[in-house]
Amino acid sequence: LAKKNSLTPKLRRSDFPEDFVFGSATSAYQIEGAAHEDGRGPSIRDTFSEKYPERINDGSNGSVADDSFGFENEDVALLHQIGFNAYRFSISWSRILPRNLKGGINQAGIDYYNNLINELLSKGIKPFVTIFHWDTPQSLEDAYGGYLGAKIVNDFRDYADICFKNFGDRVKHWMTLNEPLAVVQQGYVAGGLAPGRCSKFTNPNCTGGDGATEPYIVGHNSSLLTEPPKNSTEKNIRNLLLNVVQQESQKGKVGIALNAGWYLPYTESAEDRLAVARVMAFTIDYFLEPLVTGKYPVDMVNNVKGGRLPTFTAQQSKMLKGSYDFIGINYYSSAYAKDVPCSNENATLFSDPCASVTGEREGVPIGPKAASDWILIYPKGIRDLLLYAKYKFKDPVMYITENGNSQIHDLNIFIYLRMSFNFYPRHLEMVQDAISIGANVKGFFAWSLLDNFEWVNGYTVRFGLVYVDFKDGCKRYPKKSADWFKNFLNQKKNS
Ligand code: BG6
Repeated sequence: LAKKNSLTPKLRRSDFPEDFVFGSATSAYQIEGAAHEDGRGPSIRDTFSEKYPERINDGSNGSVADDSFGFENEDVALLHQIGFNAYRFSISWSRILPRNLKGGINQAGIDYYNNLINELLSKGIKPFVTIFHWDTPQSLEDAYGGYLGAKIVNDFRDYADICFKNFGDRVKHWMTLNEPLAVVQQGYVAGGLAPGRCSKFTNPNCTGGDGATEPYIVGHNSSLLTEPPKNSTEKNIRNLLLNVVQQESQKGKVGIALNAGWYLPYTESAEDRLAVARVMAFTIDYFLEPLVTGKYPVDMVNNVKGGRLPTFTAQQSKMLKGSYDFIGINYYSSAYAKDVPCSNENATLFSDPCASVTGEREGVPIGPKAASDWILIYPKGIRDLLLYAKYKFKDPVMYITENGNSQIHDLNIFIYLRMSFNFYPRHLEMVQDAISIGANVKGFFAWSLLDNFEWVNGYTVRFGLVYVDFKDGCKRYPKKSADWFKNFLNQKKNS
């Protein structure tokens, strides 16, 4: 065993708390396929894939993906084989509500997730469910612009309530949203994610969107998903759940999964350190600060000009404050932040106008590049980010809800590949370090269980612990990284 784990001689399963969960994460559109089957309605991602194939590296889409809609038992068997005791997956909104509430609930969708959840539980694997992972029903986009419309808050609440009522007797960990920041930046500034709206500064061919006001409206509505239902005494989604808890003996926890990079000052100057603080304000703090304090970060309030940053009413602030049980962090990459002369162009976009972010310093990258060019591997960043959230945001309960590394390889060579850069052991060592310093981290989810449809890269890069042969009926083959987890998770105590 010691030999098998020679990749990281120091790291032991027993270095983590006994109740720490280890799992893997996926999302509905990226793995399920069956996009037009069993009553699923269209989502904005179907529309985006159809409308803008040139914005996806291989012009592909998730209509078939990993066919997990037909392979869910196999996927659970793989999780079990690796030794994971948790699985983070998302529910497809338009599989549950193909059009809108009036159109009715799609029973085939409910049955699918019921089967998945029951199968997981029968193998001792805890379901961690993301309610929204970037696939708004197209009907809501058509009706009022999806997240641009205030009505999304009510529609989301109705949908979440259906999820709680149908699955909450067995699902005890919920994430309302996956990475609202990525939706804001990519869906409404750069146009790389659905609904593909963008600014002419980032994409000269862009139609629709302004990249200046829309991102802030979408961010605001995303935060307000915790607003109480109209004419109701319920405080917020969390309390809505807790209310259901009382009625139906649920005892679920509700959180959110936020994407966050870690930033180092480009130089040791005070200016660059302040630039780091501003970049953090426009990234992780943008969604964390309202949840913890009920307010937007001061650096955003000061630097978003022209009245573009909406404000929370006193009542909304009060409701937002503390409306979470845990914070999920999706960590992939780090970079340097630098103070630069304030730019007017930047000022119209979604970022601090006087800071720039770069992956390298004097030609030296902060870490090796993964196959996806936005990922620079810097394991220490995961520890520093966890400690930042601990000290700045009232020591929340945290999970690493995603961490992963993409590769390019094909079936012939994949089985010989070592896990590149010892990616998972090195990141887990850093998570363990954060815990030993006092961060309240309760679990870790590797992105991803399977090679899957990646939003921008399509099928050209592979994040999976398990190889998927897309040319041969989506057959699944565990990779070296799955073996590493298996050895690590099956270590005997004190070994
Ligand atoms: C995360 C998302 O940001 O990164 C995942 O939550 C995504 O859904 C992963 O697949 C990798 O990103 P990308 O852009 O390479 O698909």
